[in-house]
Order: sequence, then structure tokens, then C-alpha cells
Amino acid sequence: MSDIKRKTIVELLGTDPGETVLAKGWVRTKRGNKNISFIALNDGSTVNNIQVVCEGKDFSEDFLKPVTTGACIAVKGELVESPGSGQNVEIHAGEIKIYGTADPATYPLQKKGHSMEFLREIAHLRPRTNTFGCVFRIRHAMAYAIHKYFNDRGFFYLHTPLITGSDAEGAGDMFQVTTLDLNNVPKTDDGRIDYSSDFFGKHTSLTVSGQLEAELGAMSLGKVYTFGPTFRAENSNTPRHLAEFWMIEPEVAFNDINDNMDFAEDFIKYLVRYALDNCADDLAFLNKMIDKGLLERLQSVVSTDFVRLSYGDGIDILIKSGAKFEFPVHWGVDLQSEHERYLVEKHFGKPVILTDYPKDIKAFYMKQNLDGKTVRAMDVLFPKIGEIIGGSEREEDLKKLENRMEELGMDKSGMQWYLDLRRYGTAPHSGFGLGFERLLLFVTGMANIRDVIPFPRTPKSAEF
Ligand code: 4AD
Ligand code: MG
Repeated sequence: MSDIKRKTIVELLGTDPGETVLAKGWVRTKRGNKNISFIALNDGSTVNNIQVVCEGKDFSEDFLKPVTTGACIAVKGELVESPGSGQNVEIHAGEIKIYGTADPATYPLQKKGHSMEFLREIAHLRPRTNTFGCVFRIRHAMAYAIHKYFNDRGFFYLHTPLITGSDAEGAGDMFQVTTLDLNNVPKTDDGRIDYSSDFFGKHTSLTVSGQLEAELGAMSLGKVYTFGPTFRAENSNTPRHLAEFWMIEPEVAFNDINDNMDFAEDFIKYLVRYALDNCADDLAFLNKMIDKGLLERLQSVVSTDFVRLSYGDGIDILIKSGAKFEFPVHWGVDLQSEHERYLVEKHFGKPVILTDYPKDIKAFYMKQNLDGKTVRAMDVLFPKIGEIIGGSEREEDLKKLENRMEELGMDKSGMQWYLDLRRYGTAPHSGFGLGFERLLLFVTGMANIRDVIPFPRTPKSAEF
């Protein structure tokens, strides 16, 4: 068998018939009788299977018996034109090696459809289903497209720390990082935890965002981005929140809020177009099996101008709509996803960028408007998702930033490095954060964020 080189199934399906080939993969189904058997084989390289035809004269029933759904095999044979519909070529098997069997009595992925909840419990096996194969191939393609977009435009990928002493969003939903003995925590004389004996000699946490460090990058390298895991200990059990999620955060010197909006719109359209151009088979499968409106929605986003609207005007529209919301609307409220989706899905029928939010519902670092009430924030709102991007122009004025931090009762002592940016050679700059899994929800049509990351972390759940 090893005399020829294995081809992946995506390669085989694009190969002309007439070659002796070697394929390896997992059995999806086997059907037939003692004269002829048909095995659908998949190796993860594509959503499509290759059909393996085994004739009774070459393979006994006994030999093929353990070749059941989930078993792993290698097949050597002739690649021939397929008389059946659905594929151009199939393998006429000459030799089969069984690597591993999968007992039908216990292997959980039998032919019948399974609920997403059940598949979440077997997250170690769910990538072998068509749906999750599609999702994780698209996840890879989007990660690649993100790096390509930035590299092609002169951005530098900056690795920002995951363990940090600062709360980038000032929201306090952070996971502590400590090596202190929790059964015997050292205390100071006034009874507080003595972090000076902790690993880093101070209180540290997992980061909620790489933005503050990315700002340092923008103010030296000009255009940077981060792309890494971020952590939020918010107790949000929703289909759109994870405790560990990946975020893409570009930061650009000299961009104002309008440049930032143009950039965010261009970026996200590029990514959706990339998926349409490069993930056609996977998207076609998801469009058929998961969400019949998926392809249409993706097409519509790339071919429309996003609406740009102030928060205040958005609030007016919601109030005038007369629609019943679970959370009542008035100027000053933090928008819930029901409000965001009303604007996007019911009122405008396309993505919306909301700007100029009340400063009290946004982070301390956002540039303050002259009205004293609002900041140059921008949230990009998407159909089915709500907020997919959050960003802003940053406050570049040292005094204004210090005043805002004092107003909010923040401890400036650990933030001198951040304030130094405004002290030495300050400049306008802007950036945003795109939630990678929210992007994937949109691109795949999946309904729950737990199903677009291989191993989801949510309140009370950290399996695998
Ligand atoms: O709006 P957020 O909190 O903004 C920031 O963290 C800024 N530092 C970004 C920046 O300006 N550089 O988060 C940004 C995005 C949200 O729009 C959302 O897509 C995603 O991150 N996000 C989450 N995704 C999954 N689970 C969660 N718990 C999320 N929280 C935010
Ligand atoms: Mg936000």
C-alpha cells in the first residue's frame, strides 16, 4: 500500500480517472450486499465523501463486517469514472487496511441526525460530522483571511499579553490569575489579600482585550492588529456569549471615527466575500441543512452600504416604532440585542453602524464629544447577531483622559504606561474589536456560539 502517496479526498475528487490511488479516512456509511458494497469515506479535507466500491469477489463479507460507520481505513484502488450521480469519480477498491474499528453498539455518531446539545457533549467527536467539519474549515479560512487582509495592507501583527494587571474595558468581569494557596491566603495587616507574595507580586487577571497594548503598537508601528483569545467572567448564558473567545483588534494611528467606520465596513465585507469565494461547498451544505437564508444574507451584506446612525437617532427610531421590547428604551440605556436586531432586521434591513453613545455606558478610553454627554464610539450591528464589532476613536488628550479616569474612580497608578502615550507625542487614533465567534455565527448560520468554537467555555462548563 505504501508504494503510492496518499491523496486527500478533496484532491481525489479533482483528479482525472485512470490512476491507482491511496485514500485514508473515516467511514461515514456502508451499504450494499454480499456481491457489492459501497463505502462513503471522508477524511475532513472537504464536506464531500468519496465513494469506495468493493466487489464481493475481492472482499469477503467477513472482512468487510467491521468496516462500519466511524471506522478508519486505508483504501488502495483504481480511480474510475463514477456511473452514479453526485460524484465524478469513485475508487474501485483493490486493497483495504483497517486502522481502527468503531463498535456500532457504542459509537455515538450513527447515521441519524443528532441535536446540537447532544453533539456539544461529544465535542471530541463532533468535528467528524458534516456540519462541524464545515464550521471548523470555515473557521480556519476566516483566520487565514484575517491575517491576509492585514498583511496585504501593511499592518503588523502584535502579540499582546494574556496575563495582565490592567482592566482594559473597566468592566471588572475578569478571571484572576494566582498561584496563592487558596486554602491559606496571605493577608496584610489590614486584613486584605497580600498579593505581594503572589507569582507576579501583584493582582493579575486574564485579559478582556488587547486594545490598550495595541494602542502602544499603533503609536509606534502605525498600523497593528491583535488576534488572540480573550476572557470574560460575565455570567451571560446566551447564544452569543463565551467566557473564552477570540478577538481581532486593529488599531491605527491618525484614523478618526469616520476612517474607523470605513475600515470596519471594508474589513468585514472582505471576510464575508472571502468565505463566499473560498468556502463554497461548506457554505452550500450549511445553507441547505442549517439555515436556508444563509447565502442570501451573506450576499446581501457584501453588496450593500451599511447604515450610519447616531445612538440618539437609533433610540428615537426604537421609541417611535411602538414595538414591545423586553427591556424598555430611553436615551441612556445600553442597547440589548433585541433593540439592535430591530434596527438591523426590521427597520433598515441591513447592517447598521451606531455612533456617539452616552459616555456612561462606554469604556473610559473613548474620545469625548464636545456635548459632554457622548463619546466617539461605534458598534457595528449585524442581522441575526446584533453587535459584531465594538470600537471607537480614542481620547488622545491627557487631561481629559485623566479626568475621566478620576470620575470613574479608576486607579491611575498602574496605568502610567498607557497615559505616557498621551504625554509623549500623542495623536488621534482609532480601532475596534471584532468578535471572531460572532463573525463565525454570521458566516456559518449556526445559531449558538458554542457551536462555532471547538471547545466552548461558558458558565459552569469547561469540558475537554
Ligand atoms: O465591545 P467589546 O467589549 O470591545 C472591546 O473589547 C474593545 N477593547 C475593542 C476595541 O476597540 N479594540 O468587544 C468587542 C467585540 C464585540 O463586539 C463582540 O463581537 C465580541 O467582541 N464579544 C464577545 N464575543 C463572544 N463572547 C463574549 N462574551 C463577547 N464579548 C464581546
Ligand atoms: Mg461592545
